[in-house]
Amino acid sequence: MWIEIARIARLASLVSALGANLASADEADPTPTFSRDVAPILRARCQECHRAGQVGPFPLVTFEQARKRAADLVSAIEDRRMPPWKPAAGFGPSLRHDPSLTPVEVSTLARWVEGGTPPGDDRDLAPARPFADGWTLGTPDLVLEPAEDFAVTGSGPDLYRCFVIPTNLPADVYVSAVEYRPGNRRVVHHLMAFVEVANAGRARDAADPGPGYSSYSGAGVEIVGDLGGWAPGNAATHLPEGVGRSLPKGADVILQVHYHPDGRPEVDRTGIGLHFARKPVRQTLQWKGVMSRNIRLPAGEADIRVKASWFVPVAVDLLAVAPHMHRLGRDMKITASYPDGRSVDLIHIPDWDPDWQGTYTFEGPVHLPKGSTVRVVGRFDNSDRPENPHRPPQLVKFGHGSTEEMCVGYLAVVKAGQDLTRPGEKDDLFSTLVDQHRRGLKQEQMDRRRR
Ligand code: HEC
Repeated sequence: MWIEIARIARLASLVSALGANLASADEADPTPTFSRDVAPILRARCQECHRAGQVGPFPLVTFEQARKRAADLVSAIEDRRMPPWKPAAGFGPSLRHDPSLTPVEVSTLARWVEGGTPPGDDRDLAPARPFADGWTLGTPDLVLEPAEDFAVTGSGPDLYRCFVIPTNLPADVYVSAVEYRPGNRRVVHHLMAFVEVANAGRARDAADPGPGYSSYSGAGVEIVGDLGGWAPGNAATHLPEGVGRSLPKGADVILQVHYHPDGRPEVDRTGIGLHFARKPVRQTLQWKGVMSRNIRLPAGEADIRVKASWFVPVAVDLLAVAPHMHRLGRDMKITASYPDGRSVDLIHIPDWDPDWQGTYTFEGPVHLPKGSTVRVVGRFDNSDRPENPHRPPQLVKFGHGSTEEMCVGYLAVVKAGQDLTRPGEKDDLFSTLVDQHRRGLKQEQMDRRRR
């Protein structure tokens, strides 16, 4: 009986709520107010970046801050420039973390501005959103950072500095999330982290004065794995359950920081935070870079295509992609074809923004059978335009420096069907990829000699 009454009461209130909605849609919609309608959208969708100390160029927290820029807000969201989200909609599988505003949210902001940006009633205003400062994923299990600050000279070429950080781990662990904490955002261009066990990084460090050592291409020593990387726009996330990155007992993490001097002497101390897997790990994640070193962008040319491909050597599941180009990149597409000839779209970044190098995670894994091919096509523009680091434009070739170019589709892959909780199962995806890479380099050398 009680249940019946409760159910009827709930139904009645549902009907009246629906009625109220219909009625208000029938009448002219009331003008949204800041307190009731706009503030919740800004809190949920904008303040992660648009508050003090974050990447957004101004805060969007108070009524006054939003009112001042009201027209800009609407044009930025109507054009889908904000929140920043670069992948073309509808190309490839659906992606997690798509922050795009819903049509209702867009229309609420637009109507608030059309209606003269009314503040509304302060009593409607929800309390400020709490943000965990420092780490977005909460306190890490292990924080790694160099023992001292690194001084970055005011001018000169880009620096690639590797810092060797002992983990002192007493046993092998699996890492389920890596959060990078760039120290001085004025000079830190991007970060990579490598795993090393043979003390070769320490030897390089000892031989090079100052903290760390210089190495332009990767860690410059034999590594046993990596912990991914960071560039502006990259947000930390947890790997799916059952997937981890292995970090062996006693390993050193080599943190490579790419510095871009900003004209003034600066100091930096960049760190990374690791979260260990709480559940058993069945598969280890590896990043595979599908890249071309054969880049030649003639000065003044506005539409140059660079292609790269990867023959998939064992069946893998693709979890995420991270397109990478520098300042002359305009557009990148990544697709794959299966051994039976069918093809699948993976991602398209139609309007490349070098300051926004996102990592895009698929809603579900994309299976790539052995013998598939992943294709990366980058389009570059070396004409005279503000993004061009050379004035006047000049011939640009492959290189890691910010005035050279790269064309890479980074793929986060696990070995399909792997279950490391089964006795005797081998964790060999990394070595498979390294072997394939070495054979490729050898082949390239032989081809070059033959030419
Ligand atoms: C993930 C970080 C991030 C989020 C979330 C974000 N912004 Fe931004 N916003 C930026 C950055 C960085 C810039 C400056 C660089 C640029 O213009 O691309 C910017 C610039 C802007 C600008 C000025 C430039 C322009 O394109 O008009 C406006 C207006 C703006 N944001 C509004 C918003 C609104 C409104 C939201 C929420 C609906 C939002 N942003 C969410 C990072 C963010």
